[in-house]
Parts: sequence; C-alpha cells; structure tokens
Amino acid sequence: MKKTILLAVILLASSFSILSASDYKNYKRNINVETNQTYVNECASCHMAFQAQFLPKRSWNKMMDTLENHFGVDATLEKVDEDKIRKYLVDNSSDSKFAYGEMAEFANSISRSSTPLAISEVPKFKREHRKISKRLISQKEVKSISNCLACHTDAKEGLYRERNILIPNYGRWDD
Ligand code: HEC
Ligand code: HEC
Repeated sequence: MKKTILLAVILLASSFSILSASDYKNYKRNINVETNQTYVNECASCHMAFQAQFLPKRSWNKMMDTLENHFGVDATLEKVDEDKIRKYLVDNSSDSKFAYGEMAEFANSISRSSTPLAISEVPKFKREHRKISKRLISQKEVKSISNCLACHTDAKEGLYRERNILIPNYGRWDD
C-alpha cells in the first residue's frame, strides 16, 4: 500500500515536473544539495560550501553585492565567477527551489522584512543551537558556530541529522 502511494507520488511529481527523480530521492533523505564546481572552488576555501537552500534570494544577492567586506574579510571574485555563483545561489535559494526538511524550517523562520547574511543568524538556527554552551563553541576544535562541520559530521551532504552530531570534547548530543 505504502509503496503504491510512493510510486504515485513519484509519477505525479515527475509528470508535472515539480520534483525530478533525484529531487525526490533527496526529499526522502531530507536533503537538497546541488553541487556547483565554481561555488565549491571559490566559496569553500575558508569554510564549507553552505547549502544555498538555507537562505532566500535577497540574502544571497546582498552577500554577493558586499563581498569586499564579507564578515570582515575580502572575498571578492572575478566577475565571471561572481556571476556564476550568484546565479547558482539564487537558483537554489530557499525561495527559488523547493527547500526540504530542516533547511526549509530555517528559511521559513526568517521574517520577510529581514535579510540575514548568516545562516547562524536565522531565528530557527538560534533556537536549535541555544542550548550549546559557549565553552563548546569557543574551544579550539570548533572556534565558531559557523563551523558546522566541527559538530555535524554530515554537514557536507546537507543532512544535519541529530544522530550525526558529534561535538568535540563532549560527544553525542542527547536532549
Ligand atoms: C577569504 C575567506 C572567505 C571566502 C573566500 C568566503 N568566505 Fe564566507 N565567511 C568567511 C568568514 C570569516 C565568515 C564568518 C564565519 C565566522 O563568523 O566564523 C564567513 C561566513 C559566511 C557565511 C555565514 C555563515 C554562518 O554563520 O551562517 C556564509 C553564508 C558565507 N560565508 C558564504 C560565502 C560565499 C557564498 C562565499 C563565496 C562567494 C564565501 N562565503 C567566501 C570567510 C570567507
Ligand atoms: C558546536 C556544535 C555545532 C555547530 C558548530 C553547529 N551545530 Fe547545528 N546543531 C548542533 C546541535 C547540538 C544540534 C541539536 C540541537 C537540539 O536538537 O537540541 C544542532 C541542530 C542543527 C540542525 C537541526 C537538526 C535536527 O534534526 O534537529 C540543523 C539543520 C543544524 N544544526 C545546522 C547547522 C548549520 C548549518 C551549522 C553551521 C552554520 C551548524 N548547525 C553548526 C550543534 C552544532
């Protein structure tokens, strides 16, 4: 019975091209990660390639407009790369592409009147992370709450599953 429903959903989704087959697979795994080589090459040298689905278009546009002062560092790019990356981020933003699971919840918690540049400034992000002590964040193995990979062993895959959280010098998260 369940399989039939799933099949119907896939067929329906593919016939209306709401979800492609790979989107559907990702939906089941709660992820929505597209890779773009230019994005990874240029934007993942100082930190991980944050998933575009965490933020809306207006956030990515503002970020791409202010790369000369990007969180206190200069992250300016060649114009061709900047254009490619902007397009990739906007095309995959929370309000362009269907965002799934936790990513969608983060994005939905952003008020229409705000344009956050950091995922870690998003209301739902703050709520999810408020119970982590300052000491665990400032320790040298983590340094910053923006360092998703230090605790989320599956951050690169865009999964962020609770059972894959492993905080250095603390261990698994149980709440
Ligand atoms: C020269 C290093 C550098 C490069 C290159 C760089 N960034 Fe950053 N980025 C930073 C720093 C530093 C921070 C602040 C992180 C922190 O507070 O720990 C940051 C933060 C961010 C954040 C917010 C993280 C959070 O806390 O939610 C996003 C999103 C981001 N960068 C996207 C990008 C994008 C998109 C590009 C490519 C256009 C890029 N970055 C390139 C250094 C860089
Ligand atoms: C210091 C460790 C740490 C860092 C750094 C960190 N997180 Fe988390 N994150 C956690 C913990 C612990 C939870 C679980 C909170 C809870 O459920 O009580 C969590 C929860 C989440 C969740 C929800 C998962 C779920 O299923 O409930 C998402 C999504 C997430 N984090 C994304 C991020 C992103 C994106 C970054 C980087 C910008 C990040 N986190 C940085 C520790 C961390």
